[in-house]
Amino acid sequence: MSNKTRNVFECSECGYTNSAWTGRCPNCQGWGTILKKESSVRSGNTSDQAIPVSLMKIESPGRSSSGILELDRVLGGGFVNGGVVLIGGEPGIGKSTLLLQVCGHMASSGIRTLYLSGEESPSQIALRARRLGLVHKDLHLSCGNVIESLLSDVLDYGLIVLDSVQAVKSEAENSWPGSPTQVRAVSQLCVETAKANSIPMVLIGHITKEGRIAGPMLLEHMVDTVLGFSGDKTSSYRMVRAVKNRFGNTDELGIFEMSGGGLVPVQDPSRLYWNKTDSSVSGVAMSVLLEGSVPLIVEIQSLSCKTSFPYPKRASYGIDLSKIYLLTAVLDKRCGISSFNQDIYCNVTGGMVIREPGADLAIVASLASSVMDMVLPSDCCFIGEVGLAGEIRPVSRLMPRVKEAERLGFKKVFVSSLEQIVEINDIEIIRVRNLHDFLEVLRK
Ligand code: TYD
Ligand code: MG
Repeated sequence: MSNKTRNVFECSECGYTNSAWTGRCPNCQGWGTILKKESSVRSGNTSDQAIPVSLMKIESPGRSSSGILELDRVLGGGFVNGGVVLIGGEPGIGKSTLLLQVCGHMASSGIRTLYLSGEESPSQIALRARRLGLVHKDLHLSCGNVIESLLSDVLDYGLIVLDSVQAVKSEAENSWPGSPTQVRAVSQLCVETAKANSIPMVLIGHITKEGRIAGPMLLEHMVDTVLGFSGDKTSSYRMVRAVKNRFGNTDELGIFEMSGGGLVPVQDPSRLYWNKTDSSVSGVAMSVLLEGSVPLIVEIQSLSCKTSFPYPKRASYGIDLSKIYLLTAVLDKRCGISSFNQDIYCNVTGGMVIREPGADLAIVASLASSVMDMVLPSDCCFIGEVGLAGEIRPVSRLMPRVKEAERLGFKKVFVSSLEQIVEINDIEIIRVRNLHDFLEVLRK
């Protein structure tokens, strides 16, 4: 086995390596991010020998509940022992509150938890814990700015939270806290500590203006799970979603409300986005989205009016604008409903953002309703994807969506004629093949 050393230069932002120093990283274009790194290049066998997968011992990871069911669902069933979760969000969104609540709940179920803070003073945190009713002998608090000393005694804990990765520094590096090298060194130490002691760990992270977690891009690769914590500053609702999850899927959504007593899970999220607008106006259509396993009623509104510009204006909130262009073109070509002289504005109420095609049919219904100034029946829901040929296609997991519509009192649901779905008692299922047939049925 030969062992020789050579210079390696590595980008502290993206991890790109090169044998020569450059002022700018050729990969991520960052200036001054390339640093020298001592690396030993080894050839020959290493101890990490490959073995047949059939001989490997499979151990399913031990999990512990966070004490908040909504969060457990997003995590894929709670915290994984030794797993590291990174949670990012804008300042003031409620990250510290959520994690302090988690620590408090876990402590009261007999798991010793450790809350490490580099951002707030012990008395500030203790005051918040007292106000939220989270004071418990098994919830421990430690404040400081050096990660090595914060992590010096972690053995007996069942969860460690670090608030935040940008606020603490490692003694091994001499740059400022929050710089890419520091964030990386701090995270590296946390990941090693979590794995070595089989303790779940949560790192709180700030996000940049672009919405990325501040620090090196490598950060998201180093951890097992990345959660995004978001919400509109003007509303008290907050959403948690997994962006990456090595131990579960990433499409679950947790919805909370920030109240005087901290974050409270929202029990009936459909009612949140459904405003029950006066339905005697045109342009209002309902659909049911599926956010992970949670069905959500959404209300789509369109307004069209004669344009006074050379080109008609299109504006949209909560729906991708290119989708509006596409669906108006389909309506024009396949159904003869033209909107070339109309400005069109679309909105999804409650600040919801539509990210799946299941709401296409409702968007089309809303557009057609407003262009033709035809009021849609208020007890109807529209669930289907619309293709360029004007065909209406099936959606994923229709049943839970229809059940949600039924639960909220809708009497009819329009779906694709290709859906295989059994009849349900209290809601009529109307199957339509294409937009042409769909509008015929609606006109009647
Ligand atoms: P915080 O958890 O400190 O946010 P972050 O750590 O993401 O920066 O939450 C701060 C906001 O939450 C603050 O504006 C006050 C509000 N808040 C409540 O409305 N109720 C509460 O019980 C708590 C603790 C905070
Ligand atoms: Mg905070």
